[in-house]
Amino acid sequence: MQVTLRHAGRSEVSFDCAADDTVLVAARRAGVTLHVACEQGGCGACRARVVQGTVHYPLPASSRWLDEGSGSEDYTLLCRAAPTSALIVETAHPWRLRESAPLSRILSG
Ligand code: FES
Repeated sequence: MQVTLRHAGRSEVSFDCAADDTVLVAARRAGVTLHVACEQGGCGACRARVVQGTVHYPLPASSRWLDEGSGSEDYTLLCRAAPTSALIVETAHPWRLRESAPLSRILSG
């Protein structure tokens, strides 16, 4: 499935994610370094707003970060979420790209 990250309306990057991989694992494989801390679904550092698509959680993730302040918007934790459809998320923090990243698409503005 394709995952697209957006940040601050200026940057976008897309990469493939296998069905059983988390977004974090797939991002690393594609050469994208996400803003993370615990990598265990507990701290909220990787929290992102779901713009389009759905996810599931193969491993536990804190509902605190998924529910807090969500209102009508949906949030996810990229270190724990595995996409169940094509996914577009808005990240709170920028990402870094490895120079030789095998990305399917990079758009920057
Ligand atoms: S890095 Fe801590 S919840 Fe994802």
